[in-house]
Amino acid sequence: MKSFASITSALALAALVSAAPAPVPNGGVDVRPNDTAPVYHTMTDFDFQSLNLALNQEWIELDLFNYGVKTFSEEDFAAAGMTAEDISLVQFMANQEVGHATLLTNILSAYGRTPAKQCQYAYDFYTVRDFVNFCQRLTRWGESGVYGFLPHLDSRPSAQLLLQSITTEARQQMIFRQFSGAFPMPVYFETGISQAMSWSLLQNYLISCPAENPRIEWPIFPALTVNNDANLLQDGYLAAITHNRTSLTEAGRNVSLSWEAPKGNVSYDGLYNTTVGGNVTDPTAPKYVAWINQLNTTYTDFTITGNNTGSTIQPNGTVFENVDQGIINGTMFIALTSENPYVTPYNLSLLNDVIIAWGLYQAN
Ligand SMILES: *[C@@H]1O[C@H](CO)[C@@H](O)[C@H](O)[C@H]1NC(C)=O
Ligand SMILES: *[C@@H]1O[C@H](CO)[C@@H](O)[C@H](O)[C@H]1NC(C)=O
Ligand SMILES: *[C@@H]1O[C@H](CO)[C@@H](O)[C@H](O)[C@H]1NC(C)=O
Ligand SMILES: *[C@@H]1O[C@H](CO)[C@@H](O)[C@H](O)[C@H]1NC(C)=O
Ligand SMILES: *[C@@H]1O[C@H](CO)[C@@H](O)[C@H](O)[C@H]1NC(C)=O
Ligand SMILES: *[C@@H]1O[C@H](CO)[C@@H](O)[C@H](O)[C@H]1NC(C)=O
Ligand SMILES: *[C@@H]1O[C@H](CO)[C@@H](O)[C@H](O)[C@H]1NC(C)=O
Ligand SMILES: *[C@@H]1O[C@H](CO)[C@@H](O)[C@H](O)[C@H]1NC(C)=O
Ligand SMILES: *[C@@H]1O[C@H](CO)[C@@H](O)[C@H](O)[C@H]1NC(C)=O
Ligand SMILES: *[C@@H]1O[C@H](CO)[C@@H](O)[C@H](O)[C@H]1NC(C)=O
Ligand SMILES: *[C@@H]1O[C@H](CO)[C@@H](O)[C@H](O)[C@H]1NC(C)=O
Repeated sequence: MKSFASITSALALAALVSAAPAPVPNGGVDVRPNDTAPVYHTMTDFDFQSLNLALNQEWIELDLFNYGVKTFSEEDFAAAGMTAEDISLVQFMANQEVGHATLLTNILSAYGRTPAKQCQYAYDFYTVRDFVNFCQRLTRWGESGVYGFLPHLDSRPSAQLLLQSITTEARQQMIFRQFSGAFPMPVYFETGISQAMSWSLLQNYLISCPAENPRIEWPIFPALTVNNDANLLQDGYLAAITHNRTSLTEAGRNVSLSWEAPKGNVSYDGLYNTTVGGNVTDPTAPKYVAWINQLNTTYTDFTITGNNTGSTIQPNGTVFENVDQGIINGTMFIALTSENPYVTPYNLSLLNDVIIAWGLYQAN
């Protein structure tokens, strides 16, 4: 019987002699020794605008997590069921954002371009419970906002790096649901949304940005408010790994919605000079509510009941026929639309063209 040492040295010799590349099945992009070496730069305006938006999201998360840690006392956190170690975890998440912002700044800085620097933000929460609830909502659109454009980037090497940071953000989102006393991951699939959809939610919290920050070229949709939105924070359910409480909403629920009138072409000088399309005097009447979650975009009819107010019914339906997982669950997205085009996860951004107002829906 050969000794272990002689087997390993024989293997090492064989590896040196036949330096043939390891076999790769047909197909695949940039996976062979002679393929172009990866360059971690943006290649197009689409890349730059997508990654710079992601950078803006990392900057607000960095500010937000630090703000929470420094604003509330240990006693405040304890009242929400959070220990000193939980506070340290929030602090660690802020540190992760420094890494993410550095990564994106490096990718975006190629060709002498100026990536976004950190802005000033305003938040509307005053308790730890509301802080962690806001964090689970903000990280929801941050995570989904990246999934929506990742496979559409021209620069696959940049997509690889962003993927490795957004998976970390996904964990943050789940942990903030746990800190909120909710079921950590009620869905089977995390949804992707377009850049305009996440930017519309993020820009609400900006007060001012450095003048040299690049103009964000994604449109902003008027805000959609769910008047009877469920509150993820429920009495008796404090921070925990999981809680088995009943769902906050169900199919057949009468949902009341109000939307902001289109502002015409608004430009935010000194902040982001973003153009909001749409008519000031002749807004298209919304006809449908689009429910965007998991793998699905589902429409229900919208009934106008007052000035910029109306109602719809929460839809039924499962992600697949052989599972009982409903399409409506978790922290998800909702839109008022003028039309009801069939869209799937890879072409969801085509919905941008028919959206009249855009918001979040707290299904569970
Ligand atoms: C890579 O290119 C070199 C030089 O052109 C060539 O000798 C080699 O066979 C190529 N290897 C592969 C795996 O195609
Ligand atoms: C938790 O909920 C599931 C159904 O969602 C149920 O099957 C299970 O028995 C519950 N477990 C406990 C401990 O309540
Ligand atoms: C969401 O999913 C959970 C876990 O599967 C389930 O108990 C709950 O009823 C679902 N909620 C809705 C609104 O479908
Ligand atoms: C939803 O669909 C399920 C399965 O078809 C059905 O049992 C249930 O009654 C439906 N709920 C509503 C509110 O339509
Ligand atoms: C839903 O509630 C609104 C009032 O908010 C009411 O006008 C409408 O008739 C209700 N729809 C259904 C189907 O019950
Ligand atoms: C809004 O902007 C679009 C595109 O730049 C332009 O065509 C349109 O005339 C503008 N509308 C108003 C009301 O300024
Ligand atoms: C913002 O847009 C308006 C209208 O297009 C333009 O007049 C203004 O100079 C722009 N401001 C900046 C800071 O780019
Ligand atoms: C604005 O209204 C005009 C006239 O109704 C219409 O042709 C145009 O498409 C509208 N533009 C937008 C952006 O809704
Ligand atoms: C709707 O708006 C009109 C005009 O601004 C106003 O007169 C009316 O009172 C409003 N109706 C409701 C229900 O708010
Ligand atoms: C949700 O999307 C999946 C995947 O496209 C599809 O199989 C399923 O039928 C959709 N469910 C509903 C209720 O539309
Ligand atoms: C989106 O893609 C689906 C196929 O996945 C296609 O059937 C549908 O027509 C596309 N939607 C639009 C608006 O082009």
